[in-house]
Amino acid sequence: MYKIAVFVSGRGSNLKAILNLVSQSKNAIQVGCVISDKIECPAFEIAKNNEIPTYSVSQIEQKGYQTYNEIYSIIEKLEIDLIVLAGFLKKIPDILIEKFENKIINIHPALLPSFGGKGMFGIKVHQAVFDKSVQVSGATVHFVDKIYDNGKIIAQESVDISNVKSPEEIAEKVLKIEHKLLPQIILKFSEGKVIEKNNRIYVL
Ligand code: GRF
Repeated sequence: MYKIAVFVSGRGSNLKAILNLVSQSKNAIQVGCVISDKIECPAFEIAKNNEIPTYSVSQIEQKGYQTYNEIYSIIEKLEIDLIVLAGFLKKIPDILIEKFENKIINIHPALLPSFGGKGMFGIKVHQAVFDKSVQVSGATVHFVDKIYDNGKIIAQESVDISNVKSPEEIAEKVLKIEHKLLPQIILKFSEGKVIEKNNRIYVL
């Protein structure tokens, strides 16, 4: 069994897409836990309805624990193979990145390395893409390193946005791609088909 931890902050539509993959995989892939920086969020409801344990970074903070030490031991205890950031808004502390090198991936709603970095999340990304009159956008799955949206790119898919009338319209088009691309790549990880060769990432 291949176990993942999903980090979320809000709506949880990518989590839903991952859970579809889980059921298609007949539980060969499992979501071991869902972690959020919020105490409550719609994504937590989705997790609870699927009987997946949830942990809140803020709640742990309130309890006075050393937040990410706690998160680290939860992930270790659950024997998580891959950490998936699906709309998680906080920066992952260096200590966690060092401990899970090449085991943390993120989905970004634009074609990196453009339109990424600190503060580039949610509708802000699509607004910036719209304002530049960019003709093609898309989604990027990449490794997480110590710098925002900077890790090596694993997969990208693009969409024509030459006729859109608003950033919201771009968001809608890109979200559809995210829901396809992220589960696809998680499946490839579970099959050992994401490899690094000659300093590049290949999905077999
Ligand atoms: C997605 O667009 C993701 O790429 C971005 O935040 C959004 C999260 O959406 N980083 P959801 O919570 O998965 O619905």
